[in-house]
Amino acid sequence: MVARKVVIVKGSPRKNGNSAILAGQAAAGAESAGAQVDVFYLHGMDIRPCDACDACHASVEDECIIDDDMQIIYPKLREADALVIASPIYWFTVSAQTKIFMDRCYALGGGDPSGYALEGKQIGILLTYGDTDPFNSGAVNALRTFQDAYNYVGAEIVGMVYGSADEAGEIRENQSVMEEAFELGVRIGSGVES
Ligand SMILES: Cc1cc2nc3c(=O)[nH]c(=O)nc-3n(C[C@H](O)[C@H](O)[C@H](O)COP(=O)(O)O)c2cc1C
Repeated sequence: MVARKVVIVKGSPRKNGNSAILAGQAAAGAESAGAQVDVFYLHGMDIRPCDACDACHASVEDECIIDDDMQIIYPKLREADALVIASPIYWFTVSAQTKIFMDRCYALGGGDPSGYALEGKQIGILLTYGDTDPFNSGAVNALRTFQDAYNYVGAEIVGMVYGSADEAGEIRENQSVMEEAFELGVRIGSGVES
């Protein structure tokens, strides 16, 4: 059996922060289900914002022409079965690193608006925030953003795991969220439908 391929992107500058810990849980879950997992720490990569040149949308074959580290991630995304995004909530939505990554996925559309390379792939979302309430924190804004974005490209969100934590590492105290992140990884790694 061919192993499923899972890409995990970490959108916090804190390498060992709360969302990164949930990403680690999801990676462990996916690997335990036999998946091949590639993890990218976006903050440590040279990833520039989309400059709206639209060269990537000129024809179906066209790709992003910005020569930076997204060129490492694009082929991995194209061949992946699933994408997991782990982000902290910054100013009531996803972090800038996460948003820039999402914007740059525009290039996966080629010339065909209905032909996004993420179409049909499974998506997992992991979020951490300082407030105790997901509405007050802005986590709900972020969840809605993911819902709209991945609905638009025809991908399927199979799970959204989110929890409150402030200091780096604090999320470990939330055993149920830690387990949920692992289980999301297992589901995505094994390809089981939500
Ligand atoms: C610049 C900045 C903005 C933040 N904005 C929010 C916010 O709008 N809502 C919230 O609940 N927490 C906010 N926080 C707290 C983080 O979301 C929280 O500490 C989270 O667990 C960090 O995850 P990380 O360890 O993966 O970076 C903010 C933190 C920073 C540094």
